[in-house]
Amino acid sequence: MGSGIAQLCAQSGFPTRLYDVHINVLATARSTIEKNLQIAIEKGKISTDQMNKTMMSLEFVTDIKECKADLVIEAIIEKLEAKISLFQHLAGINTKETILASNTSSLSISSIAEALPRKERVIGLHFFNPAPLMRLVEVVKTQYNETALIESIVAFTKQLGKTPVVCKDSPGFIVNHVARPFYIESLNLVESGYADFETIDELLQSTGFKMGPFRLMDLIGNDINYAVSCSVYEAMDKPARLQPSRIQREKVENGELGKKSGKGYYNYS
Ligand SMILES: NC(=O)c1ccc[n+]([C@@H]2O[C@H](COP(=O)([O-])OP(=O)(O)OC[C@H]3O[C@@H](n4cnc5c(N)ncnc54)[C@H](O)[C@@H]3O)[C@@H](O)[C@H]2O)c1
Repeated sequence: MGSGIAQLCAQSGFPTRLYDVHINVLATARSTIEKNLQIAIEKGKISTDQMNKTMMSLEFVTDIKECKADLVIEAIIEKLEAKISLFQHLAGINTKETILASNTSSLSISSIAEALPRKERVIGLHFFNPAPLMRLVEVVKTQYNETALIESIVAFTKQLGKTPVVCKDSPGFIVNHVARPFYIESLNLVESGYADFETIDELLQSTGFKMGPFRLMDLIGNDINYAVSCSVYEAMDKPARLQPSRIQREKVENGELGKKSGKGYYNYS
């Protein structure tokens, strides 16, 4: 997600720095972005000049000290402690005006904010996968944000060409809350032996969904999707209907994370 968000920001004319703890991830991100832009040229969507400008707006940095900006968008693993620790570091090296935004799919933005010195400067900015293409962005506000800050983030997302929806900080926000039964009930059907995953995908796709739930979970990453299911389940006081799936947990334990690991429900190698 980080690479897609960085591409989007640079393509929209914002000087952008992409940072990751792993150097190899940055190399992959650079080649993915170049490939995406090349495809956009071939489709006539952008010019070679626009591609060059985008690449010149992008820096790939390996030292967190270089993550100083007016707006920092975090897109690391879906773990609250990891996000808090990263944001505490970022708060220490940035100014008091810097806005710290999280791309979390489900974690409490207020819990992140409360662990930081300037909780009013923390907000949720939830892009969808793939970030350069998907129109919707959830702007997740907390009780600490002032209207001016929310409005500036909404304006920013519009400059990215997105459709922002402001929502309250609640488990799974809007989309991941509504989508939980889509994944969990599909997994339940497989677990009960009522249908196999290919059949479910084919059926739902034929009714108009762009992707079936298993193809979509593979795209999102089974680790991320499972973490979101667990976080929404916990935050909602463990309703039986939203119990995370054993099948999905096993996929994560076996490293079958989906497209990014080469195998999930489907094979990608
Ligand atoms: N995958 C999706 O479809 C999707 C959609 C919307 C939002 N999100 C959210 O975006 C975030 C990232 O998801 P993803 O699918 O890109 O995950 P991912 O596992 O593909 O990427 C996470 C990246 O974070 C890096 N990382 C881990 N700890 C770090 C740290 N402390 N500092 C810097 N980098 C660190 C990892 O090296 C990795 O490259 C999650 O919060 C997820 O909920 C994901």
